[in-house]
Amino acid sequence: MDSASTDLRPRLALALDSDDLVAAMRLARALNGHFGVAKIGLELYSAAGPESIGAIGGLGYDVFLDLKLHDIPTTVARAARVLGALGVSYLTMHAAGGTDMLRAGVDGLRTGAGNAGLEEPAALAVTVLTSEADAAAELGRRVEAAAAAGCPGVVCAAADLAEVDRRGPGLIRVVPGIRLPGDPADDQRRVASPGDALAAGADVIVVGRSVTAAPDPVEAADRLHRTVLGADV
Ligand code: C5P
Repeated sequence: MDSASTDLRPRLALALDSDDLVAAMRLARALNGHFGVAKIGLELYSAAGPESIGAIGGLGYDVFLDLKLHDIPTTVARAARVLGALGVSYLTMHAAGGTDMLRAGVDGLRTGAGNAGLEEPAALAVTVLTSEADAAAELGRRVEAAAAAGCPGVVCAAADLAEVDRRGPGLIRVVPGIRLPGDPADDQRRVASPGDALAAGADVIVVGRSVTAAPDPVEAADRLHRTVLGADV
């Protein structure tokens, strides 16, 4: 792997959407050279819980825990305190929960990480799901709520990046709904190619089925690197 590819790794998050930790570990091991971040979502966390974080993190990945917390502020604070002590780098919460809920989550993460002597994970506010066809009315308000609550970043569709920059300058922008050219959109409604998303300002892109469901995931990950480096982002 050359240095341009190595520099790209922290900006590429692999969505380990599997309900089997052994299968997820196999994929994570095979793609360690291509991705610097591994995303554990509801599926894997429901199946394997905190053990999945230690296992995937032990391979050298920054762990992105995508649980999309959304509840009353007290509950989110308590859950975030627990999750903040597990050693993850990112945790998602739904921006639709509002500023107080997001702030409670940020505070919980800080307390949990501090108690465990760990670096504080970055809270990412999910603005509008990429599976929803229309971001429209809610986007700006949710980005502002994230910034007001002290979230370091947001999750948004590539098409929403310009609006995110306007409403929340300086936030880390994480973009899912990524498809390699020619791949099906599946249940995603607002997709973008990896090169387009990074060129439009994504700091991190989340790549799932384009690589994980490919007949040869390593070949697809090679293609991912080639298309991004060719796009010169
Ligand atoms: O397979 P695919 O690339 O569509 O996977 C996208 C991943 O990003 C899934 O794990 C999904 O849960 C997650 N995600 C998303 N849209 C958001 C936030 C997270 O698709 N707004």
